[in-house]
Amino acid sequence: LEACWRGGPLAGRRVLITAGPTREAIDPVRFLSNRSSGKMGYALAQAAREAGAEVVLVSGPVSLPSPAGVAVVAVESAAQMYEQVMARVADCDVFIGAAAVADYAPVTVAGQKLKKHRDRLQLELVRTPDILAAVATHRPRPFTVGFAAETERVREYARDKLARKGLDLIAANPVGPGQGFDRDDNTLWVFWPGGERDLGTASKKALARRLITLIGERYGQENR
Ligand code: CTP
Ligand code: CA
Repeated sequence: LEACWRGGPLAGRRVLITAGPTREAIDPVRFLSNRSSGKMGYALAQAAREAGAEVVLVSGPVSLPSPAGVAVVAVESAAQMYEQVMARVADCDVFIGAAAVADYAPVTVAGQKLKKHRDRLQLELVRTPDILAAVATHRPRPFTVGFAAETERVREYARDKLARKGLDLIAANPVGPGQGFDRDDNTLWVFWPGGERDLGTASKKALARRLITLIGERYGQENR
């Protein structure tokens, strides 16, 4: 099995993966973030490595060990993740955006810890750069894979993101109470321009192997 994995379409290919949440600073001691554990991205990095790929993982703050044989680049914010990904996009064959990137960050970061002088506090937020969309429009561009975490209308929103961001493949997972974030198991539905596949519900490790196999198949068919 190991031998057949290693002779597969991802053997020797350079795979760049983002994982985990990002943290957007409010002041020196506080940030906005989300419930991502990083488990899916780390499992993908390990599966890609086992498929013989050279893997770089750009990771937000998580409490997971680095997968063996994978180069981990640690970042905090969406802006830092964007910078580290764009510095490497020209040198990768496949990009997988598994990070739960914060969509908004505070417009300004307070220099000192905010004091609770007032009853109400308003934070002004600004959109972060869309890393996945930037990778998809980069030329030359890698085989580009996104995730779509949705609480409703999963298929419709995933197909919409696939088309709108110009991706090669998208893996959709339902999130919400008891599903998706911060859990060991997950459910994945995968869509690409000409088809779709239900990868079922399983551990993130098992789903990562299935998704990496499918990415290898699709990447191989586009014979780059
Ligand atoms: N993503 C990214 N950079 C961002 C936001 C999202 O690279 N600033 C990537 C995620 O890693 C994921 C994909 O975009 O692969 C979709 O993320 P998701 O949050 O589902 O979609 P958004 O495009 O952010 O749209 P929305 O949150 O409004 O559904
Ligand atoms: Ca988002």
